Amino acid sequence: MVKLKFLGHACFQLSHSGKSVLFDPFLKGNPKAAAGPDRVPADLILVSHGHSDHLGDAVEISKRTGAPVFTTFELGVKLQMQGANVVAGNHGGSHDFGFAQAKITWAVHSSSFGEHLEEAGNPCGFVLKAGGIAVYHAGDTDVFGDMSLIGEEGVDVALLPIGGFFTMDARGAVRAVKMLKPKKVVPMHYNTFPPITADPQLFKKMVEEETSAKCVLMEPGQETEL
Ligand code: NI
Ligand code: MN
Repeated sequence: MVKLKFLGHACFQLSHSGKSVLFDPFLKGNPKAAAGPDRVPADLILVSHGHSDHLGDAVEISKRTGAPVFTTFELGVKLQMQGANVVAGNHGGSHDFGFAQAKITWAVHSSSFGEHLEEAGNPCGFVLKAGGIAVYHAGDTDVFGDMSLIGEEGVDVALLPIGGFFTMDARGAVRAVKMLKPKKVVPMHYNTFPPITADPQLFKKMVEEETSAKCVLMEPGQETEL
């Protein structure tokens, strides 16, 4: 059984066989956080890019739990220098963590590290396979045509930003669903801060009218079985 818990903003915890995978663990300073970095379980941490609302508490959680941080090369080296346990790959690359396999995918966004906006390579998304389920976490991105290539490999669940301003908006995310062809889609990265305001009900309506995907709306702290 694979379970997905929404921890607020773009942070999700996927649980399978007693193991936990954290996506983009922005908890401290996240007004919607449904967990604390000092307690949240982690056996693997996926970080899509260096912006603070995604990198979040990854280093602290990795140091506490020993969980590897899987991310792109340039950001990975920086996190390693801060004491995190890092597996640094790049776009198209996969790594088998035993209980889960993760692949780094493209994202149309920027990436930087720290308050002085240090160079942090390119941003990414992930396809995570665990318990026979493929979950695509898009990270921060606009919609892009190569999402159809990601969809061709089979996506069961897509986690997509809908807040606009820094990423695609709800309309863009519906176009993404048409290329990814997931069975389920969960919106993220909206209503955390004023510039990324979106109506998740409208997104759900558009997805379910225009595609065959089921849209699952999740409140922070809510868990669903995939
Ligand atoms: Ni960002
Ligand atoms: Mn963001």
